[in-house]
Amino acid sequence: MLTVSNASLSFGGIRALVDLSFTAREGEITSIIGPNGAGKTSLFNIISGFYQPQSGAILFQGEDITRERPDRRAKRGMSRTFQNLALFRGMSVLDNIKLGGHTRLKSGLFSGGWYYGRAQREEIAFREEIERDIIDFLELDHIRKAPVAALPYGLQKRVELARALAMKPKLLMLDEPVAGMNREETEDIARFILDI
Ligand SMILES: Nc1ncnc2c1ncn2[C@@H]1O[C@H](COP(=O)(O)OP(=O)(O)OP(=O)(O)O)[C@@H](O)[C@H]1O
Ligand SMILES: [Mg+2]
Repeated sequence: MLTVSNASLSFGGIRALVDLSFTAREGEITSIIGPNGAGKTSLFNIISGFYQPQSGAILFQGEDITRERPDRRAKRGMSRTFQNLALFRGMSVLDNIKLGGHTRLKSGLFSGGWYYGRAQREEIAFREEIERDIIDFLELDHIRKAPVAALPYGLQKRVELARALAMKPKLLMLDEPVAGMNREETEDIARFILDI
């Protein structure tokens, strides 16, 4: 599924990643562990295309994507969450999750304008699918209309997971999925990850 080979990333004099190689196989959970500052987030950032490694290569399903734009990688089926949360705080839970799926919709701005009916049908089918497969699954139904900013941290993390799932990713990258959570929240997320 994913191969990182001999990747290095430096910020000025700081060497965040040095000649790093590993593979992650389909259908498996691969954990990246290390102390603060070890380079875990930097690794997610070169895999998702947020940063470019100075050397080395990243292969996704056998194809070299090292220089590809982040949105192209998303279209290939890579999705992620962020250590420090990157939700649209003024928007509702449902709208945040739906945004995660926009790469999958066929109707763009233009076709959406020309074929208004088709775009609307696609949107309705998409919303039904999100409600059934993601909102129910992650037990977010009771807060689907709430603005994200009003939610406790543990639930915001769960909304981010939901948004990442809305893409129907082949590779799901979770940066510190349980950081800052209490024991009960941690057990909930662990259960969801295993189910996914
Ligand atoms: N944008 C940046 N500019 C400069 N230095 C950075 C940047 N991002 C990360 N670093 C540095 O790179 C190193 C690795 O950081 P990174 O955030 O990848 O580690 P981490 O393993 O995710 O740590 P944590 O457990 O705290 O999340 C650190 O020394 C960090 O200060
Ligand atoms: Mg980190």
